[in-house]
Amino acid sequence: MLTRCFNFFTLITETFHDCSVNYLSHVFFIIIKTRIDKFDDSLNFQSLSSHDKKASLEVVHKYGPCSRLNQDKTIAAPTHAEILLQDQSRVKSIHSRLSNSKASGGNDVKVIDATTVPAKDGSVVGSGNYIVTVGLGTPQKQLSLIFDTGSDITWTQCQPCAKSCYKQKEQIFDPSQSTSYTNISCSSSICSSLTSATGNTPGCASSTCVYGIQYGDSSFSVGFFGTDKLTLTSTDAFNSIYFGCGQNNQGLFGGSAGLLGLGRDKLSVVSQTAQKYSKIFSYCLPSSSSSTGFLTFGGSASKNSKFTPLSTISAGPSFYGLDFSGISVGGTKLAISASVFSNAGAIIDSGTVISRLPPAAYSALRASFRKLMSKYPLTSALSILDTCYDFSNYSTISVPKIGFFFSSGIEVDIDATGILYANSISQVCLAFAGNNDATDVFIFGNVQQKTLEVFYDGSAGKVGFAPGGCS
Ligand SMILES: *[C@@H]1O[C@H](CO)[C@@H](O)[C@H](O)[C@H]1NC(C)=O
Ligand SMILES: *[C@@H]1O[C@H](CO)[C@@H](O)[C@H](O)[C@H]1NC(C)=O
Repeated sequence: MLTRCFNFFTLITETFHDCSVNYLSHVFFIIIKTRIDKFDDSLNFQSLSSHDKKASLEVVHKYGPCSRLNQDKTIAAPTHAEILLQDQSRVKSIHSRLSNSKASGGNDVKVIDATTVPAKDGSVVGSGNYIVTVGLGTPQKQLSLIFDTGSDITWTQCQPCAKSCYKQKEQIFDPSQSTSYTNISCSSSICSSLTSATGNTPGCASSTCVYGIQYGDSSFSVGFFGTDKLTLTSTDAFNSIYFGCGQNNQGLFGGSAGLLGLGRDKLSVVSQTAQKYSKIFSYCLPSSSSSTGFLTFGGSASKNSKFTPLSTISAGPSFYGLDFSGISVGGTKLAISASVFSNAGAIIDSGTVISRLPPAAYSALRASFRKLMSKYPLTSALSILDTCYDFSNYSTISVPKIGFFFSSGIEVDIDATGILYANSISQVCLAFAGNNDATDVFIFGNVQQKTLEVFYDGSAGKVGFAPGGCS
């Protein structure tokens, strides 16, 4: 379902169907109509249907008009340049986590429990742009959480916000008002498992276990570690899910109540609900901020899914690793040595916006894309995006298809909305960026995942991709 409700620049896509194409080369191009959506305030936010072995939640863009966080527009959406800057700090923190964790044994929670942490304006959660609404506690309170496959612990801001809570849209969760909330004690073994889930050694306050987690530059959440009832849909609830009850929270979490951790560590919601869903979940990220996608736990993949094995990044076992082998542009596989991909390794992440390619892969992609787009005027760069076009004079444009190849042999076509990132019609950019270092991990980001059904099967160790999962 596509709810149009915003004056936002959107690219409407139409793909050529093989049967109607005379010129073979056109199969490898996508024709895009450029237009601006009209403002329309009809909002619709509710859980999708829930079946026996699966639970589906509606996914909306954090700042989109379909987000319940944005209904009175009191929390300003960042500009595209700000989003890309936030994205860069998330990527930096992922890269440093993957290169540092080999050496360091993790921080102590007290370090980030202090007021010495700079509360910069630019402090971020990275740009985990997609939120779902779940119920927490008894009686249940509705909370909108950013979902993140790149981290494990789930947390929400909690009363009494002993140190600090940022501004959130919904009422802040009060554990004293929930009959099912329990604190975890410091001596509990689950308390010590916070070290691997957060990268920080847990603390202890009045014998209650204290968690702390940092994201990107200076956004963080610190608080009591507890359990409470988590309600995903009217039929799917879990009586005691471990989560962080944040007493000191800072960052640009966009008015959301916190974060839903979908990583591979044992404290993630995926692992905690494994008995019911067997570590299976899938999502579809909508193509624009005015449409909706889904996050489903359990269930089965679309018949047309292409699967590739999950790999493990030894320095970051929480991440979903993938083995890439190549990239195609306009139907031609680029001449990039396979070692370019194997030296870097790769992960898929719902929280990184723009995919970060190994430098050699990005320069090959850019060169080929620019060549095939040479009839359009280039314009200034947008933050990390260095290949931008001015389409003011065009009502339709023709864009080469881009595909990702995996070592398992599959190729996944990126949707047209994942090829271009539009700031305005006069600045539409190739939505990819290069890493600085050839050994930095390749990140398959959320712009490139748009409209794909991405199906994670943590038990079978594979990920599936199918086109047209949502609009
Ligand atoms: C949890 O532990 C903290 C710290 O000991 C305490 O202040 C709080 O009241 C406890 N909450 C509940 C619901 O027991
Ligand atoms: C659009 O067309 C006008 C009129 O031909 C021209 O002056 C202008 O430079 C063009 N703009 C771009 C971005 O190509």
